[in-house]
Amino acid sequence: MSEKVSICVIGSGYVGLVAAVCFAEMGHRVTCVDNDEPRVKTLNEGGVPIYEEHLPELLAKHRGRNVKFTCDLGAAVRRSEAIFIAVGTPQGDSGAADLSYVEAVVSEIARSIGDYKVIVEKSTVPVYTNEWICRVLHRYGVDPNSFDVVSNPEFLREGTAIGDFLHPDRIVVGAGTESAAEVMQRIYQPLTGGSYYSQPNALPGACSALHPAKLLVTSPQSSEIIKHASNAFLALKISFINAVGNLAEAVDADIEDIAAGIGLDSRIGPKFLRAGLGYGGSCFPKDVAAFHWVAQQCDVDFQLLEEVRKINETQRDVFYNKVLSALWTLRGKRLAALGLAFKGDTDDIRDSPAIEIVKKLLDAGALVSGFDPEAMERSKEILPPSETLNYASDIYEAARDTDAVLILTDWKAFATLDLQRLKQAVRFPIVIDGRNLYKPQTMLEHGFTYVSMGRPASHQDQLGQAAKQNARSRRESMVTPLSGRCLPFAPST
Ligand code: NAD
Ligand code: UGA
Repeated sequence: MSEKVSICVIGSGYVGLVAAVCFAEMGHRVTCVDNDEPRVKTLNEGGVPIYEEHLPELLAKHRGRNVKFTCDLGAAVRRSEAIFIAVGTPQGDSGAADLSYVEAVVSEIARSIGDYKVIVEKSTVPVYTNEWICRVLHRYGVDPNSFDVVSNPEFLREGTAIGDFLHPDRIVVGAGTESAAEVMQRIYQPLTGGSYYSQPNALPGACSALHPAKLLVTSPQSSEIIKHASNAFLALKISFINAVGNLAEAVDADIEDIAAGIGLDSRIGPKFLRAGLGYGGSCFPKDVAAFHWVAQQCDVDFQLLEEVRKINETQRDVFYNKVLSALWTLRGKRLAALGLAFKGDTDDIRDSPAIEIVKKLLDAGALVSGFDPEAMERSKEILPPSETLNYASDIYEAARDTDAVLILTDWKAFATLDLQRLKQAVRFPIVIDGRNLYKPQTMLEHGFTYVSMGRPASHQDQLGQAAKQNARSRRESMVTPLSGRCLPFAPST
């Protein structure tokens, strides 16, 4: 039988808010604290500050009942057994994570600890943060017997955050004491014991009462490293496929076929092998940098992570150069930018490749018409509408009279375009797709010149024929002994 635990979650961002409503959904009593007063007001008045599937329903179900929102951290800490820290850990100048938000929260917690509390690192933090939190609490004179600090990294993805939280691949708990591990096991019991999945209104997903979530207990250091290493490994997969994609393109191969062929190896798997503009978002870029910084501090050579970063940055230039190759010059060219969020299904634009590309196009004198199903309000805050940038109300309005349509985010709506309608809207039928949402043949059949990532372009025009000829000559030079770059498998004639 699962027991209710009183929980305080500090931070009501993508992780804090999702964790708070999911703990409430699991039957716990939750107080979610944020020092952003307007945000807390919005939450208390029924608003939903971020776009996330299932979040509005769960908030409506639990707000004011199992989950309450407040700015009063002290009171929330006093009434809770477990305190989850879910504030931002952005990248600092050296690449290291900036832990000042975490430290600020810990010093506030210190003032309110009375009886035993488990303090949980939910934010992504470097190894030994656990020890630092203990040290800060000691400095504030907190009785060492009145708390334990545990690491419980979060692996949710934006866009599928609620499903990921309630149906996790794994729950990792880095605990130094049995009493802290026991509190964490009680909190996750509805998922690990399966009782949550037996409820009639449980959110469906990969876990079930028969196959409940798995919880792994490790040391705090191992748990902290599991989080950094997981994100770094996923980023590495993406950079790897992008590097292979650039090679594929140089030899007229198709990265989509290659990724399918690689991914069928069960040791590799098909996920995170989508070539494109590279990874963005508030986590992979900063976590790869922070993990590299950790390795450097420990005198461990982990240059691989620097290569992952470099390949990722290059992808944005690769795409930009494709736009230049397709359009020659950019000043005064009208371009539709489909997508502003860092990936589909989110309104988050932090470190979005799409935003960076739009900025670069505007700097080059292009006239951009942007559209994103959910991220336009946030985009307007950093790229306000101007003479050269407008925000369209739908895809086809964005495409109207444009010299080319650029696909920058993998929203489903962009993968299912009405291609006839699109062709009628544009000035020239050119689509430059940074997310490989279409088969080149389909675009060709609909009369588009189609340029994508890691695949040969499909051209409608004479210039395209010239590009094809160039690729053919490159191939000739690689298989002809005269070039001095004879491939090992080239026929010996
Ligand atoms: P976020 O910026 O969306 O939210 C952080 C929240 O903390 C903000 O609402 C902010 O007002 C609040 N906050 C800051 N200082 C505070 C204080 N002193 N008291 C109370 N509230 C305070 O950040 P996020 O995307 O939710 O990420 C939080 C952490 O979780 C980061 O370490 C991140 O790396 C990690 N993480 C994020 C994701 C993700 O998909 N976004 C997934 C896994 C882990
Ligand atoms: C990622 C991880 O997937 C989560 O497990 C982790 O909890 C989270 O970071 C975090 O620590 O914050 P998220 O950033 O929400 O989640 O998004 P992902 O779906 O992982 O995508 C990240 C970026 O990689 C996006 O820009 C996406 O477009 C790109 N990507 C992803 C690719 O370019 N190719 C792929 O095959 C997959």
